[in-house]
Amino acid sequence: MHEEPILQVRNLHKQFGPGCSRCSNKLDRQLEKNYCPNCGTVYACQDISFDLFPGEILGIVGESGSGKSTLMQCLYFDADITSGAAFIHDGLAFESQNVFELSSQQKRFIRNRKYGMVYQNPVHGLKMNFSSVGNIAEKLIAAGNRNVADMESTSKTLLESVHIPLFRMKEAPKNFSGGMQQRVQIAKALSNNPPILFLDEVTTGLDLSVQANVLDLIKKIQRELGISMVVVSHDLAVIRMLADRTVVMLNGRIIENGLTDQILEDPQHAYTQQLVYSLL
Ligand SMILES: Nc1ncnc2c1ncn2[C@@H]1O[C@H](COP(=O)(O)OP(=O)(O)O)[C@@H](O)[C@H]1O
Ligand SMILES: [Mg+2]
Ligand SMILES: [Zn+2]
Repeated sequence: MHEEPILQVRNLHKQFGPGCSRCSNKLDRQLEKNYCPNCGTVYACQDISFDLFPGEILGIVGESGSGKSTLMQCLYFDADITSGAAFIHDGLAFESQNVFELSSQQKRFIRNRKYGMVYQNPVHGLKMNFSSVGNIAEKLIAAGNRNVADMESTSKTLLESVHIPLFRMKEAPKNFSGGMQQRVQIAKALSNNPPILFLDEVTTGLDLSVQANVLDLIKKIQRELGISMVVVSHDLAVIRMLADRTVVMLNGRIIENGLTDQILEDPQHAYTQQLVYSLL
């Protein structure tokens, strides 16, 4: 690919705990999985680097505890990183700067205008007692919109695009099924036309038929809007369905990455082989 990535992540590191003499040496950490038995420090993300290209879906797959959600939370500024860098290339004034070193106001701008986030648990992405329209308006207001009539019509269009029926748009998400809640979250995440969307286990816990429905919706959005997406799942079947390229994580590290088809056909790492064979 000769295109410039829209998002570059470089050596992102996130640890919980101060580390000790047994685990602080980057090249020789004495860990059990991602955890130092001596001091209790968890190395949730170690040396994570990848590129996201315009219009692609990048999959991140790995077992529970491999660091996928921590990575998403760091990228979306929900959590502070320990060290590392990320760069957004989308016509921003502060393009060449590490986004983690930007002011809180600039980070807010990126969160509101450049990123959308869909959490595994809709409670983290939605106000369950607000109306669905109100949930979306909140994000539109955060981006500087003030015209109530405009916001209402934009919200309705967004909810319509994720197949929430008109007569239920004033209802609060707490009344909705899991699949509908995820669809409202997706609509909210799309509300300021962000070029980059993060989706963390969006379909985990949904019934299979509902899962298929939400996956179809994600594919359709990607096709129609050309948004770049990072799709995180423990489930390789989900990644296979969505992702052009895939990154495999284990114990906080990237152990393999490449075209999804290539990884499925010829997995290199023993852990990836196990993931792939369990699909068959
Ligand atoms: N606030 C925290 N304090 C300590 N450890 C944490 C915290 N949040 C996550 N972890 C640990 O970080 C590791 C990665 O977790 P997570 O990113 O949720 O993995 P995944 O999303 O791949 O299941 C796990 O070992 C988890 O226990
Ligand atoms: Mg997770
Ligand atoms: Zn230690």
